[in-house]
Amino acid sequence: MDRRKFLKVTGLGLGSAAVLGWGLNRFGIIGSKENYYLQGNYAPVKELISEDKLEVVGSIPKELSGLYLRNGPNPMGKPNVKKYHWFEGEGMLHGVRIDEGKAIWYRNRLVGGDQLFAGRANTHVISHAKKIYAIVEAGGKPVEIDQELNSLTEEPFYGTLETGFTAHTKLDSETKELHGITYNFPRGSYEAHHVVVGKDGRVNRADLLPLSSGTMLHECAITENYVLVFDLSITFSFLKLGTGYFPFSWNNDHQARIGLLNRKTNDGVVKWFNIDPCYFFHTVNAYEDHQGNVIVDAMRYQRVFDEDWNGPFTEFPPLLTRWSLNLSNGNASEQQLDDLPAEFPRMHPNLNGQFNQFGYSLGTGSQQKPDFGRIIKYDFTKNINEVYELGEGKRGAEPVFIPSENQKYEDEGYLMAYVYDKASDKSDLVIFNAQNIKSGPIAQIKLPQRVPFGFHGSWVPAQI
Ligand SMILES: [Fe+2]
Repeated sequence: MDRRKFLKVTGLGLGSAAVLGWGLNRFGIIGSKENYYLQGNYAPVKELISEDKLEVVGSIPKELSGLYLRNGPNPMGKPNVKKYHWFEGEGMLHGVRIDEGKAIWYRNRLVGGDQLFAGRANTHVISHAKKIYAIVEAGGKPVEIDQELNSLTEEPFYGTLETGFTAHTKLDSETKELHGITYNFPRGSYEAHHVVVGKDGRVNRADLLPLSSGTMLHECAITENYVLVFDLSITFSFLKLGTGYFPFSWNNDHQARIGLLNRKTNDGVVKWFNIDPCYFFHTVNAYEDHQGNVIVDAMRYQRVFDEDWNGPFTEFPPLLTRWSLNLSNGNASEQQLDDLPAEFPRMHPNLNGQFNQFGYSLGTGSQQKPDFGRIIKYDFTKNINEVYELGEGKRGAEPVFIPSENQKYEDEGYLMAYVYDKASDKSDLVIFNAQNIKSGPIAQIKLPQRVPFGFHGSWVPAQI
């Protein structure tokens, strides 16, 4: 693309630092020698542990056999405290093996092993077509992992990936295809693709998208007919790159928009819907309603990566918001669905692109620094939520929903999340009955160390 245009598009927002309600200068974070995202349970752990004697409080359901895996950044060297961003650092996997309701082992391993590879895949870990991959966006290669958390290869999908990848793929549960909106800088300029990994585990499409805005494409979504492209208000920043910071920035001058790419015609045309400036890292889901409107639910930030150059949490709280895209008139409307700040939304793994009655998230609290103090369940049919407070000194993580075998109801199953306990400075793997999160965990697997706040994970059933 034209470099001058790129600079113009990406550079304009950097000087506009309007301080609104959550402006972080009020909290003295800019200029501080401390880095919020290296303190407390954000701090990395250095020990690699394997432990097969795990105390369990409560009882793990017998139907659970598999591996719970979670990825997150864990800088192993000495990060530059002023410039370190939470999204940087080697990937570290924390896993718990469960067999017919028994906790078999916990272990943590670096993605890339003993730095066999670059280890940049620090954001998510998924299973697809009988393989497990640690994944990341912006050009870092997915790393294939085995069931023991060892890194195997940086040539994912049988060597068929020729583009960047993403940390958030969406599985179409009917075709078993994995969709991703990816971006990379292969020749120093920005390229975005729609990538599809087939049910055979090989990349079968990688279509170049007509997009040159340098947007941080963290997430995508699918519906029956479309793939959604989120061209939102964070774009690549030469200024941040050149000064050694995480190179993405709030860009008030970039028109935020949601694009629909037709999955059926695959004609490469994106139909764009302009929306108000915002960013969201994570959707709950998207689907088409009875009128044919495309509905997207996501955790919306009013502003992010503007004043806080080290992470996402200190400027504005993430709030569950719905966009409705009207295909008849080309307009998008926006509605806040809940006033409880929350992140890391999850839902039933087989409902991507279809209506979901239930969603789950980690409540971040109404403070300028998130407390991760509660698990939230949403009922989108009744428009209500249910909240479980984790308790004094307890800090949660992304709650992953695991459907029961032979389930009759969408929420029949379990939620699993690592929960950090400040008192013991260790973490538990906590299991909830998803139909009744209010009565608290049904099992807590005590781990030999803490699991730092990280990003995303998956339940990998024993039979994949
Ligand atoms: Fe994410």
